Amino acid sequence: MLKFTLQITNWYRQNKRDLPWRHTKDPYLIWLSEIILQQTRVEQGLPYYNKFSSIYPTVEHLAQANEEEVLLIWQGLGYYSRARNMLTTAQFILSDHSGNFPHSYQGLLKLKGIGPYTAAAIASFAFDEETPVIDGNVFRVLSRYYGVDSAIDSREGKQQITELANLSIDKKNPALYNQSIMEFGALQCKPKNPNCEICPLNDSCLSYFQNKVQDRPLKIKKIKVTKRYFHYLVSKENEYLTLEKRTANDIWKGLYQFPLIELESTELTDDLITNFRISDSSSIYNHKLTHQTIFAIFHESSNPPNNSLNQSKVAITDLENFAFPRLIQRYLENKEFI
Ligand code: ADE
Repeated sequence: MLKFTLQITNWYRQNKRDLPWRHTKDPYLIWLSEIILQQTRVEQGLPYYNKFSSIYPTVEHLAQANEEEVLLIWQGLGYYSRARNMLTTAQFILSDHSGNFPHSYQGLLKLKGIGPYTAAAIASFAFDEETPVIDGNVFRVLSRYYGVDSAIDSREGKQQITELANLSIDKKNPALYNQSIMEFGALQCKPKNPNCEICPLNDSCLSYFQNKVQDRPLKIKKIKVTKRYFHYLVSKENEYLTLEKRTANDIWKGLYQFPLIELESTELTDDLITNFRISDSSSIYNHKLTHQTIFAIFHESSNPPNNSLNQSKVAITDLENFAFPRLIQRYLENKEFI
């Protein structure tokens, strides 16, 4: 076994957090935890994992749910396609795999929403297959420890890290190794200001020796962030609000919102103000996503556009039964609708 592998698994034995998905070999629960944790920190994801797994304790339970209900549980976690894909895949596992997860990395990879990272995690944690997980955490740990200077988003970078990951995995206990490197990346070898002085790997970490920990991993591209301006027309009549469901293949698909006009700026034209009988006051919220920043401008309107077949009037007392993007939820809370 490589020194790296020994050190990292020893570190894990002493420093691991006690997390519920580490006490199970059930591929369904492991799948759920890994999907939640893909774009979410453990502290934020844990309550969602607990709630989801108690409402849908098995893949059969999930397969019988409807999308509305699943999105309501996922509300606030973001990246909602994760939840929609999970539902589709649960139904597929029931219809095409008699309710059993494929037992191999290759089989898992064929499922919708399961990419190389998740397939490797499930295959190793549930079925002890020797498949190393590779995600941003792992890339950072390996590129620092072994001093890799190819970029994380380049072909050579991915190739080099894959080779190192294949060499480093503990063949006798791939699950332990995979949990170790993930946890080490999350707690010790952090993206910013890691405390290398207390790291037990600092006697053999090349980047520590070269004083290059902060420089690695390298990245070629900066993410380009687009700005979008969502003008929401809030119409309250008696104790009802007009809502519509987002159906396009765009962010927040399946969630609810107010009637929307998307424009190129925060300004409304006079025509729109007249047409939709928009009152003077408006409030603006912003929400940063990975590739876009959404500016939401909420206007009160007494004649909102009806540009969607999915529009309906919803009683304010019934709002808790609808899943909203965080931004809309914040607005509803500030207005004391919820
Ligand atoms: N992030 C992704 N998977 C994880 C896991 N199994 N434990 C802790 N953090 C994680």
